[in-house]
Amino acid sequence: MASKTLVTTTLAALALAAAMTGCKGSEPAATTTNASGEAVDVAGTIKAREANFKAIGKANKAAKSALEAGTPDFAAVSAAATSIQTDAGKIVDLFPKGSGKESGEKTQALPTIWEKPAEFKAAAEKLATAAGALKTAADAKDAKAATAAMGEIGGACKGCHDTFREKKQ
Ligand code: HEC
Repeated sequence: MASKTLVTTTLAALALAAAMTGCKGSEPAATTTNASGEAVDVAGTIKAREANFKAIGKANKAAKSALEAGTPDFAAVSAAATSIQTDAGKIVDLFPKGSGKESGEKTQALPTIWEKPAEFKAAAEKLATAAGALKTAADAKDAKAATAAMGEIGGACKGCHDTFREKKQ
């Protein structure tokens, strides 16, 4: 695991640098490498994934209210579904190794993400698939199927959070 060694070494070096300069408050930014082996800034990556989840949450709410309107706005549901599907496809890449708590950054990402990468990927795919089903249902103006797909989406959020996200205190 060359990349892991690199990350560990980098973190150790940064910790040493921080200790030597005795700087408090302005700790050097931890870095890790992404799937392509490029260096990425951990704090920036965590920010990006939070923004991605916020966008997913916002689209989920938009889909729900458009579907529950007196006359469902299927075009709005379809657009929200596409947005969720696209953002679900970004999840896995936003969790490069080394971007968990071991980085020293504030994150609710549990180590299970990197211990069970196939399960994490499957959990993200479950959300993308459910969003695809929502889009199909919305495009067919099928409120019943859309409601069922919304349930699947909610289950996909919860399923992943239960296993891979730390509970809020
Ligand atoms: C594949 C796993 C997975 C799926 C699917 C998933 N989440 Fe998350 N979510 C996470 C993890 C892990 C975090 C914690 C990220 C961190 O703190 O670095 C998180 C964090 C969040 C956050 C907090 C973002 C912040 O500002 O800190 C929100 C909101 C959220 N998810 C909403 C949702 C919603 C809504 C869905 C479903 C429509 C969803 N998530 C689906 C794994 C997932």
